[in-house]
Amino acid sequence: MFLKIDTNINTPIYLQIYQRIHEGIKSGQLKAGQRLPAVRVLASELNVARGTIELAYQLLVSEGLLETKGAKGTFISQTIKNLPTNRSKEPEGLYLEQKAFNQTAPTNNCSKQNTNGYTVLPFQLGTPALDAFPHKLWARISARILRDSHFDLLSYPDAQGLRQLREGLARYLMISRGIHCSPEQIFISFGHRASLQLIAQSLFTAGDIGWFEEPGYHIARDFLQQIGLKLIPISVDGQGINVKQGVEAAPAAKFALVTPTHQSPTNVTLTLERRLALLEWANQQGSWIIEDDYDGEFHYQGRPLPALKSLDSEERVIYCGTFSKVLYPALRLSYIVVPPTYHDHFNSTAMIMGNQCPSWQQEITSTFIQEGHFSRHLRKMRELYRQRRSFLIEAIKIKLSDVFEVELQAGGMHIVVKIINGIPAIQFSQLAIYHGLKVEALDDWLINKKESDCLLLGFTNIKDKQESLMLCHKLNEISHNLLSCEELK
Ligand SMILES: Cc1ncc(COP(=O)(O)O)c(C=O)c1O
Repeated sequence: MFLKIDTNINTPIYLQIYQRIHEGIKSGQLKAGQRLPAVRVLASELNVARGTIELAYQLLVSEGLLETKGAKGTFISQTIKNLPTNRSKEPEGLYLEQKAFNQTAPTNNCSKQNTNGYTVLPFQLGTPALDAFPHKLWARISARILRDSHFDLLSYPDAQGLRQLREGLARYLMISRGIHCSPEQIFISFGHRASLQLIAQSLFTAGDIGWFEEPGYHIARDFLQQIGLKLIPISVDGQGINVKQGVEAAPAAKFALVTPTHQSPTNVTLTLERRLALLEWANQQGSWIIEDDYDGEFHYQGRPLPALKSLDSEERVIYCGTFSKVLYPALRLSYIVVPPTYHDHFNSTAMIMGNQCPSWQQEITSTFIQEGHFSRHLRKMRELYRQRRSFLIEAIKIKLSDVFEVELQAGGMHIVVKIINGIPAIQFSQLAIYHGLKVEALDDWLINKKESDCLLLGFTNIKDKQESLMLCHKLNEISHNLLSCEELK
């Protein structure tokens, strides 16, 4: 029997059965007119509930791949003979080429590897518009730097990061984020987790407690938990993290990790009142605030509030920045700003850890900033994202008005939608992922697991109105298919 169930993965059983039959049809193992086992027989063979098999069959019937003939049973539909062999040419419908990546529950917002290497899937979160990156300019600067490189670019990089990049960053942070700091306060690392590791190794010990936004950035959550820190989920509402709740739940916490500009993943901006309350708690308690300002540049309504760090008169905030959103994630270049009195402390940890980003990557980035390309690039991307976001919102209005309600915020690189027709977000996301659409459910972003009705849709790589409409059309079909399954109602 081609149907094997894996109970060790997150994918629900109905979806596994659905996927196996889909694959069987695609590979030619299952042929038009072939009879499938009766629901009762298959349920007992696989030792699952009958409803589970019914649900999988119903999904396939609604996609036209199976047909039921009353008491005679369920058959592979004759229409599969008409399916094109190269299905990626087919723009409409759910006979989409299944993207070749692991069919497990969504786990993170990184690019999944398909057979062609790394790629960006529709709706994928947190990846900048790669089509709009100035590749030629970047290549020219890179070639020039590699050609003219001195011996010092070939040696071990400075543990703190290239001086000239830190100078450029200090100027940028002052102008764009309202942060006054010296280059000595800045430490460069190879990505946000390396930044968190530098902070944790410098300031915390295993078992220390920290506030963590609920929902919150699950990659940081998993990393911090893995290195032995204890995270207390503090809920997020329309004003950002609920500071009062944090003070009640864990007054003596050693740190709070927050995303004040655009809360990850709700995009809510932390209000000034809450910012001041958070700082007051940290000042009184001698606790640390880790401010993750990963996409603060992408604000579309009014000017973004300056970083929380700009209000930090008592030096309790460690500011984290990254080039993953403003340039590109493969660069692996992030940085933190630490209090001047902690410089030596962080420096000795940085020397032990050796978390440096390669020197020539730092030099290219620094030149890109110095020559004025960076600020031009940011202006261009902000405008592009504003436009792409409005294309997606418009397409949702046209194609999905009875399925989604958009919960719009002032900035960010994705939108949050509430499902209004009763389909659980996790079911929606799993079927969408199966069809190559990287739609994430809010569920994975929660420490206290519960079923959510929110989905996260990245818009940065959806290029125009037409593509937005086509993708929303597919989401609408997914919604219809799921709605037609009794068990999900
Ligand atoms: C909330 C948040 N913080 C930080 C980052 C940056 O991570 P990195 O520097 O490892 O790319 C991301 C990237 O997705 C993010 O979503």
